[in-house]
Amino acid sequence: MSAIIMDGRAVAKAWKEKLAEQVAQKKRMGVTPHLAVVLVGENPASQVYVRNKENACHKAGIRSTVIRLDETCAQEELENVVRALNADDSVHGILVQLPLPGHLDEARVLALINPDKDVDGFHAMNSGRLMNGQPRFVPCTPLGVMKLLEAYDIPVEGKHAVVIGRSNIVGKPMAMLLLAQNATVTICHSRTQNLDEITRQADILVAAVGKPGFVKPSMVKPGAVVIDVGINRVDGKIVGDVAPEAAEVAGFLTPVPGGVGQMTIAMLLANTLEAAQ
Ligand code: GUN
Repeated sequence: MSAIIMDGRAVAKAWKEKLAEQVAQKKRMGVTPHLAVVLVGENPASQVYVRNKENACHKAGIRSTVIRLDETCAQEELENVVRALNADDSVHGILVQLPLPGHLDEARVLALINPDKDVDGFHAMNSGRLMNGQPRFVPCTPLGVMKLLEAYDIPVEGKHAVVIGRSNIVGKPMAMLLLAQNATVTICHSRTQNLDEITRQADILVAAVGKPGFVKPSMVKPGAVVIDVGINRVDGKIVGDVAPEAAEVAGFLTPVPGGVGQMTIAMLLANTLEAAQ
């Protein structure tokens, strides 16, 4: 068997085109959706992500402002930037690029973002709403995964979905979204025992581990839908968390690059437009 490769790039392109039309409509009504991105320090991966977000905003007609702060910036300086963006009525969405340098208190910064401008969906108000079944802003990567499943007409209800990874950015919200669609959800992590046994039961397997090639073909149930959220740099190349050979076992597989990553950006645009509504 050879998996159907899920073309995140194509699905994201359709989303971006539809969103660009909605942005244009919003602009005709006198409002230009505006995303502010705060980037602290020189993390090379973060620099690339932020540049990609800026370019995507530009293409969609969304205004973007990037505030760059020095690696050594003090907690108070960063918090004052967030406070100023909260108070700025021209800014609809605020995103603080993670990870922050180690000396900064990430949780405090995220808690300070106005939940109505929290296009990342990382504020406790928004994660709580997702958990309660009244979602507002949903984290972009897991939301993108759901939209990709939808685009391929992949049923979720009643299926066993296994998520490897329990981060606030991907694993936990991913599990909540799958649960909201009536999947039976298992969350696995670095301390899970008999991991392979569990992943082999997955109809839908989501890998958000951050380890290149972590999911081996032997961990995949034949015909399963395998979603690779990993973005790992190996010898200058971007690779996922799923070994490419898993394509011989899976029924569907997202490639890296060209899979989930593109959907993440499309969902950020969608959340920014939503924030401007
Ligand atoms: N770092 C890695 N992924 C993300 C994301 O989705 N949002 C933010 N703010 N930082 C990230």
